[in-house]
Amino acid sequence: MAFSKDFIWGAAAASYQVEGAWNDDGKGPNVWDVSAKYGHIRHNETAEVSADHYHRMKEDVALMKELGLKAYRFSISWARVLPNGIGEVNEKGLKFYSDLVDELIANGIEPLATIFHWDYPYALDCLGGWKNKDSSDWFLEYTKVIIDALSDRVKYWMTFNEPQCSLGCGYMVGVFAPFQKCSTPELLEMGANMFRAHGKAVKYIRENAKQKCYISMAPYGSIYCPEDDSEEAFNKAYNDSFKSEGERFPFSMSYWSDVVYLGHYPEDMVEEFGDQLPQFTDEEWAMISAPLDFYGVNIYYYKGYPSADGGYDTNWYQGRPHTALNWPVTPEAMYWVPKFMYKRYGLPVMITENGLSEHDWVCLDGKVHDSYRIDFTHRYLRELSRVADEVPVIGYMHWSVMDNYEWAEGFDERFGLIYVDYQTQERTIKDSGYWYKGVIEANGENL
Ligand code: BGC
Repeated sequence: MAFSKDFIWGAAAASYQVEGAWNDDGKGPNVWDVSAKYGHIRHNETAEVSADHYHRMKEDVALMKELGLKAYRFSISWARVLPNGIGEVNEKGLKFYSDLVDELIANGIEPLATIFHWDYPYALDCLGGWKNKDSSDWFLEYTKVIIDALSDRVKYWMTFNEPQCSLGCGYMVGVFAPFQKCSTPELLEMGANMFRAHGKAVKYIRENAKQKCYISMAPYGSIYCPEDDSEEAFNKAYNDSFKSEGERFPFSMSYWSDVVYLGHYPEDMVEEFGDQLPQFTDEEWAMISAPLDFYGVNIYYYKGYPSADGGYDTNWYQGRPHTALNWPVTPEAMYWVPKFMYKRYGLPVMITENGLSEHDWVCLDGKVHDSYRIDFTHRYLRELSRVADEVPVIGYMHWSVMDNYEWAEGFDERFGLIYVDYQTQERTIKDSGYWYKGVIEANGENL
């Protein structure tokens, strides 16, 4: 009996990656809309049209129903709702999400909303973005608009998707929009403002949502796996997984999760940065670390230790199975991440993303035979089933419901259960989509 009878089987996508309609109906630009034009993206591709989900939402929800999804995790485009990030509300943009939620519910699909999945309003970026001391109030203003409009129907809320990538990729190594390389003190200050934003949003949701809500963040779970069955190996993997990685703290698990779920900076960060760490008042700490309802986490693969001789990291070996994005196939991550997160943070776990990129195409018979995606997902879900016997796991969201814009990698990478032909916008449910439907119907008993 691995999966509870109310286990939430779903799939996910994010606003910028699927919606297109980049300037329709009054939407404002976000940092991706703007910087994608400056040669940062493979083939200079932009998501101006992408999977055109904005115009094909009903067709897409019908496909989700055909897949048997019980939930759809989507994100809201801040600049679609508030074209300048703050100030005037774009009612047409807001209506899109309201209609999406209605359509999902009418089709028996639970809406799970992510407030921020990387598409930061360009107008606010011009004011300094997360560096600006008002940035958490801007986030609160945006949160208010969507909570007031949608919380009568949406119960599940995630504040930030992978804040590691927002800060680390967007502002430290500069491989995601807005492609900046900021100093460590700046990054610490920006992170602090993101925590304040999270805290203010959670407080607002708790006090104003129109029904009981379940709130989380959705960081990525990047851990080391124990190398053998010994207690020593377990402790080493566990302790190393929660190291905050010095100046690479934006990419760590513990920076984001210890602050939000435990109410303090990780101890090794206190040692490393001392007085440099931005301080919070007691009131701010209480708000930032107010109790959440579950631990949402995105799981793709586990980390490896670098080899001493410049060879493979410990999670690699010659010929190791890997995905089209060159990510190692490590199903055990799906066992160890929930286990580690439950041990440290003590909350039920939801897998908010998991999946793989392949270079699928439509075969001569008109179908998409993505056997690798089936095998990958089967392996990961078996591990999830194993850990679900030990740890409360409440849901699994496959990434992604449909092919979409893979950020700086553009459209070459396909993660979907549904294939999208970007020339015609024709959709084809892949073999993996039908396979996943069977898993949902059997509540995972057939894995
Ligand atoms: C992100 C998605 C992304 C996926 C595959 C996650 O890091 O949340 O937006 O497409 O992984 O890279």
